[in-house]
Amino acid sequence: MHYCNAEERSKYIYLSITTHLMGNYTKDILEILAKLPEGASVLHISEQLKLNRNSTARYLDIMEHEGIVRSRVIGPTRLYTLRDGLSKSAELTLYKRAMDQASCGITIADANTHDMPIIYVNEAFLHLTGYTREEVLGKNCRFLQGEKTEHSARKAIREALRKKESTTVVITNYTKNGTRFKNELRLAPVTDENGNVTHYIGIQTKL
Ligand SMILES: Cc1cc2nc3c(=O)[nH]c(=O)nc-3n(C[C@H](O)[C@H](O)[C@H](O)COP(=O)(O)O)c2cc1C
Repeated sequence: MHYCNAEERSKYIYLSITTHLMGNYTKDILEILAKLPEGASVLHISEQLKLNRNSTARYLDIMEHEGIVRSRVIGPTRLYTLRDGLSKSAELTLYKRAMDQASCGITIADANTHDMPIIYVNEAFLHLTGYTREEVLGKNCRFLQGEKTEHSARKAIREALRKKESTTVVITNYTKNGTRFKNELRLAPVTDENGNVTHYIGIQTKL
């Protein structure tokens, strides 16, 4: 996907996150709808995805809730279209709100600044870890680690980051007050139109 400015980039990051949270169907649905400005029914989309209707409807529900698609009922059919017509800033506010409503932690790190500082965290991350946004932004995420953190998991993360790959690890982390928890951490690179990694997305789920 191409983008040319900060807003487009934020949108791309958001879409990448949505894809990681919800699986590749999100991306496929976006691609199907992009080709059908007049709209598509659940049946049509489910046939294209080769996915059953109930699951397709659930994906569309979530995407509608998050403001990515909208639907209208025409006769007996509900037609889904990509949402547009929002001003760019309203759109970004919407994305941010959607990320804050996610139940797992979401972090974004700047891949091109020394030690990959965090530039964004959602509300769930703050809730999970007990830190405030001010305490977290600008730091590398390893502050969550401690005595019992597995060296193997850290090494796997380091390797993935070095190779600019995605990875999922389960790693022992600590909240601000020292409570230990198992964190299923999903990491994925975000690339620009030239394939350069600009950011890393982290999704934290407490097991
Ligand atoms: C976006 C992002 C999110 C991360 N989230 C976590 C996390 O929640 N918990 C954790 O232990 N490490 C997390 N890390 C990994 C550490 O920041 C660091 O990369 C890892 O400890 C390996 O590097 P090191 O051996 O230099 O510490 C995250 C990394 C990135 C890029």
